[in-house]
Amino acid sequence: MTDVDLEIHLTDADLAAGLREDARRGLTASPKWLPPKYFYDARGSELFEEITRLPEYYPTRAEREILAERAGAVARITGAKTLIELGSGSSEKTRLLLDALREHGTLGSFTPLDVSGAALRHALADLRREYPDLHLHGIVADFVRHLEVLPEAGTRLVAFLGGTIGNFTPAERAPFLAALRARLATGEFLLLGADLVKDPAVLVPAYDDAAGVTAEFNRNVLHVLNRELDADFDPDAFAHVAVWDAEHEWIEMRLRALAPMTVRLRALDLEITFADGEELRTEVSAKFRREGLAAELAAAGFAVRDWWTDEGARFSVTLAAAV
Ligand code: SAH
Ligand code: AVI
Repeated sequence: MTDVDLEIHLTDADLAAGLREDARRGLTASPKWLPPKYFYDARGSELFEEITRLPEYYPTRAEREILAERAGAVARITGAKTLIELGSGSSEKTRLLLDALREHGTLGSFTPLDVSGAALRHALADLRREYPDLHLHGIVADFVRHLEVLPEAGTRLVAFLGGTIGNFTPAERAPFLAALRARLATGEFLLLGADLVKDPAVLVPAYDDAAGVTAEFNRNVLHVLNRELDADFDPDAFAHVAVWDAEHEWIEMRLRALAPMTVRLRALDLEITFADGEELRTEVSAKFRREGLAAELAAAGFAVRDWWTDEGARFSVTLAAAV
């Protein structure tokens, strides 16, 4: 496989340097935390794809239902020539947009962007086969730090799907949306997938499935730390925890130490201790309400053009224009 259509803006060495800094900061904080982007090595990206097929994990199916119904409208309204996808992963649902934009006759190129080179290479290999005449240009980059690398060509539609916007804290969301708006010209578009607030009896199992796939995904970050930072975490010594935080309206994933322990991170020359039951926060997954999301978009300089949900009103897709 060649990398002709892949731009590497974030090398493995850059990612490792970021991990060193974030791990030192997060693991010496109280409470301990880690940013979610380190879940997605090759194994983590595979596990995420497995999550999307779980009976309990409704967001992927709900978003696909919305896109299947509305992709034609997205193509008509935006007339996009360039589709950019942030945190693209497998770009599986994105094919609905690609097909609609091609049918509409405007699409010239597709730029998936992801921090995971493995996921991107996989996706590009499939896309090349399925769309041989489409200009594909993948970018390995961090959508928080590298938005300046977005291509400039044609009327652009930026898709940010899957509910990944919820993996930011509110304090991180505002600057991200403002930075994205600053990269777009007035009249260009954002298509944003966001999960909605609902009964915790539905939410919690989506993050704590019976087959234990989400637990494995969560513990995968410890395997990443062991490999990248020469650490000696015992992943089996941590329980997977998913809790609904009703005040912040987010799901929080944590890893709970099952016994007191000391962990060495040799590459950082760092030793950390866990008390029995101590928790490490590995992810927030915020859930949204229509008015709140519209207000956040407006504050960043986007006007909501359309808002759609699936039949069960579990998930939303918002089409917003840069104003
Ligand atoms: N959009 C896909 C994948 C969602 S999983 C879907 O809807 O199914 C989240 C994706 O975002 C992963 O592929 C992960 O590698 C990527 N990601 C997470 N943090 C990122 C960051 N800071 N910069 C770029 N990509 C990131
Ligand atoms: C990528 N992101 C939107 C997923 C979510 O639902 O927050 C990641 C995930 N974490 C656990 N399961 C899935």
